[in-house]
Amino acid sequence: MPPHNDVEAFHEVLRSSRRILALCGAGLSASSGLPTFRGVGGYWRSHDATKLATMRAFMTDPGLVWLFYGYRRHLALRATPNAGHRALAALAKANSDFLCLTQNVDDLSQRADHPSSQLCTLHGSLFDIKCTTEGCGWIEKGNMNDPFCPALAAASEDPPKGKSLPLLDPYHRIKHVAEEELPRFPQCKTGLQRPGVVWFGEELDTDMINRINDWITADKIDLMLVVGTSAQVYPAAGYISRARLHGARIVTVNPEAEDEAELCKMQPGDFAFGEDAAECLPKLLEPALGKLQRSGEEFHE
Ligand code: OAD
Repeated sequence: MPPHNDVEAFHEVLRSSRRILALCGAGLSASSGLPTFRGVGGYWRSHDATKLATMRAFMTDPGLVWLFYGYRRHLALRATPNAGHRALAALAKANSDFLCLTQNVDDLSQRADHPSSQLCTLHGSLFDIKCTTEGCGWIEKGNMNDPFCPALAAASEDPPKGKSLPLLDPYHRIKHVAEEELPRFPQCKTGLQRPGVVWFGEELDTDMINRINDWITADKIDLMLVVGTSAQVYPAAGYISRARLHGARIVTVNPEAEDEAELCKMQPGDFAFGEDAAECLPKLLEPALGKLQRSGEEFHE
């Protein structure tokens, strides 16, 4: 068996792979400057970022949760897609049997021109706005206002040169954003507007889940790319074992994926590349991207 991180051996496997599934996480956007959820980047002020991503937190203090999301919207708008997003988008254009599931809500894959028919945004988008009223289906797609509303201006400031942003300093008191300062649903004017992301405890979009299930069960899967995710959040993480059950070799791209614990979970034929996704993906996907270049489209690294 070739070593688990042998690029040439991986290229051989890629050349004979037709149906490819990917599961991406925050690590894909790390080199675009966006913080991950767990580990070093996992805190926002003194709050565990995963605790802010809940309806409970929003009901308790919608202004605080909106500041958190306003800041993430601002960062994502300022960021640009990296070579990892572009490589996956190029793979999608070269191979109509490639489906990419992303947990990221930053829209960087969309901005890298990843074909929407081959991209499932499991956790929604920071730029979709929904109503909090139960049963209300109102949704505004692609709202790029920055700040989202005047009360959230502090979340859209850039730090002074060489200094950190006061908003991020837990010892710096921030002005409380009252519920009355946040926009409500334009028609009924009762429900608060909220980010169109999936919070902990909420269901993923049923149509999307059905579409993914249909894709998975349609045929054998050759390869599953697991890029920049700690694979701790379900149902997203469950797609890895489902792909394995359908015959897929698993390929992880994650600087922490080569440690002993990860290797223990590996099976013969799997690969683990302990590198930055933005550097690694263009190199790994080169055989497929070469095909794309020959067909006349451009791939910029
Ligand atoms: P995590 O923050 O849990 O994991 C990010 C992973 O990326 C870690 O395993 C890092 O080792 C890895 N990583 C860091 N830098 C990287 C780089 N340059 N290249 C490749 N990998 C890198 O983020 P997710 O797994 O995406 O859900 O988290 C999943 C979900 O939990 C998120 O979608 C969000 C969160 O709470 C909701 O908000 C519902």
